[in-house]
Amino acid sequence: MRINSGRLLARIAALAEVSPISGGGNCRLALTPEDGHGRDLVVSWMKDLDLRVSIDVVGNVIGTWECAPGSPVMTGSHIDTVRTGGRFDGTYGVLAGLEVIQCLQDAGITPKRPLSVGFFTNEEGARFAPDMLGSLVYVGGMAVEDALDIVAIDGAQLADELEAIGYRGSHPCPGPTPHAFVELHVEQGPVLQSIGRRLGTVTGVQGISWQEVTINGQSNHAGTTPMSMRKDPAYVAGRIIVFLRELATRYGAPQVCTVGKVDLVPNLVNVVPATATLTVDIRNTDELTLQKAEHEFAEFLSHLADEENVTISSRQLARFEPVTFDERVVDIIDSVCASFAVAPHQLPSGAGHDAQMFARVCPTAMIFVPSINGISHNPAELTDDEDLVLGCDVLLHTMLRLANTSFTEENSR
Ligand code: GLV
Ligand code: MN
Ligand code: MN
Repeated sequence: MRINSGRLLARIAALAEVSPISGGGNCRLALTPEDGHGRDLVVSWMKDLDLRVSIDVVGNVIGTWECAPGSPVMTGSHIDTVRTGGRFDGTYGVLAGLEVIQCLQDAGITPKRPLSVGFFTNEEGARFAPDMLGSLVYVGGMAVEDALDIVAIDGAQLADELEAIGYRGSHPCPGPTPHAFVELHVEQGPVLQSIGRRLGTVTGVQGISWQEVTINGQSNHAGTTPMSMRKDPAYVAGRIIVFLRELATRYGAPQVCTVGKVDLVPNLVNVVPATATLTVDIRNTDELTLQKAEHEFAEFLSHLADEENVTISSRQLARFEPVTFDERVVDIIDSVCASFAVAPHQLPSGAGHDAQMFARVCPTAMIFVPSINGISHNPAELTDDEDLVLGCDVLLHTMLRLANTSFTEENSR
């Protein structure tokens, strides 16, 4: 049995019409009106398939095909994007889940368990921190009240923004534990394309550490203040960026460090800034190495503040340890790939995903398809149609097998 490729690709194209940006991507920052319009469209498709749609207290939306008793096999991802997002990151997994259900309904095949497809609030973390917020709250990793209080980079409060787009639902969190969770996603990196593989079985997700660093110095005249007398936050921000690059080079792969956002105040040509605020994203697949990097960075900040006569403070935005996915689910995905005569490549994920939260509560793994030139978080993000369709076929058969599999220590992880 194969999915309906035209229908899958048409839904991806239709969702990409909601808040498009130049270059073929989308801007649907979490809980903005644009995100709301995307949500409304996907919910309308869930209703077309007669799914039971539940919206929980942090706006996660789950559509369930109640075709059998028991806890569901769940798939899903997110439809929020970064400001310069592609059209596949997250949306592909959600729309593939809908296609799987519709395909089975059309074929008159009833799985042994219900099938659910969800999209989770603020996966990207580009507007509210932390990332994977909705799935984190769904699995009980953060209290609902704490999540509702989170303030966005634009000053808005999460609870208000949920209300404003009509997605402050009533279903409680933590939500019901699925029988198993599998997420289909574009790789967002170059590995699969570089080795010529069309499918990846994801063995886990690397650890993620986010912080916001604020440097306070002395704002002053750019022409009159001697270099030796400056307390210059912009210079200090530059030193931080260079330090992180050198740290990542020194540690070697898979260590990565990124400064993605820098704000200077007052941000004027002839004024030494008063403050600089920047975000730091440090990731590694190994928890101890990640801790070592965080520790080195903290020591560097403390020396730098003394050296440059500024104050530096740091606020943690997100911290998730590396996650290892369930070998049984990984094996099922591998064997489904083999049944399509396609050799999968096992790899860890460099990006964060909702699946890493579900791994806390139920057997979980992910399927990747290649990203052309490894480009993502960029409107140029692209995957071949044939690979999108193949990934969805693998999702279909993986979900059917998961529905037939009884996991012995079910849902106790
Ligand atoms: C989410 O997309 C992340 O890994 O930053
Ligand atoms: Mn994603
Ligand atoms: Mn993303």
